[in-house]
Amino acid sequence: MGGRDATMVLLDENGIRCDGRKVDEPRRIMIKAGGLKNADGSAYIEFGDNKILVGVFGPRDVHPKHMSNTDTGILRVRYHMEPFSVGERKNPAPSRREIEISKVIKEALEPAVMLDKFPRTAVDVFIEVLQADGGTRCAALTAASVALADAGIPMRDMVAAIAAGKVADTVILDVNNEEDQAGQADMPIGYMPNLEKITLLQLDGVLTPEEYKKCVQVGVEGCKLVYDLQKKALQDKYFGNGAG
Ligand code: CDP
Repeated sequence: MGGRDATMVLLDENGIRCDGRKVDEPRRIMIKAGGLKNADGSAYIEFGDNKILVGVFGPRDVHPKHMSNTDTGILRVRYHMEPFSVGERKNPAPSRREIEISKVIKEALEPAVMLDKFPRTAVDVFIEVLQADGGTRCAALTAASVALADAGIPMRDMVAAIAAGKVADTVILDVNNEEDQAGQADMPIGYMPNLEKITLLQLDGVLTPEEYKKCVQVGVEGCKLVYDLQKKALQDKYFGNGAG
């Protein structure tokens, strides 16, 4: 929750948000599986104005060898924002925020990936944020799941992600950049819809316990919508008209 702009109308008298959405309406989401010929698996997502590309490589040998695990494979995740992805040019060097988000996404994916099937190897997930507009960790996690599936990595479930939040004392689904900056709470959620397990839950802002429960409920329902689009992206590539 960054600097709050008191003049911005986040929710009007008709319950419409600053970008025209209803409180429980996600932004437009488009997911494409595949697309990068040099990656073992890939995905591209547009989540509102977020545009993110993910490439997956592996399972492959680990160098240096002592970093490998004889019992299981390891997952490595790099979340990176292009300098041009935000209004004010971002320093290309990895920031503390990018290091933290890489770790959070890795830990959110790990319960879904059957790494025990690939001892001594690594699966690398490279996330490139081309354009950011609030909610990049959720969009990136969603696309990374599709890219892992596209790479043929055995998975227990997909991880679908979206943020719930609070603006003008009202719980909302899918927090955009303005709502993140000027609103009252932002709660990114990653959820495995078949296993019914949450693998990512963060909270920036202030909520009552009741609002917290409602955010989880609204967020989980939102993740189920995202999951349908993840499945559709994979079906389009492997069984439908999608190319690539
Ligand atoms: O993107 P996400 O909501 O997961 O993470 P955040 O740290 O809450 O960042 C919220 C938003 O702030 C990003 O999505 C970007 O739109 C913006 N941002 C920025 O403008 N410049 C940065 N260096 C980092 C983030």
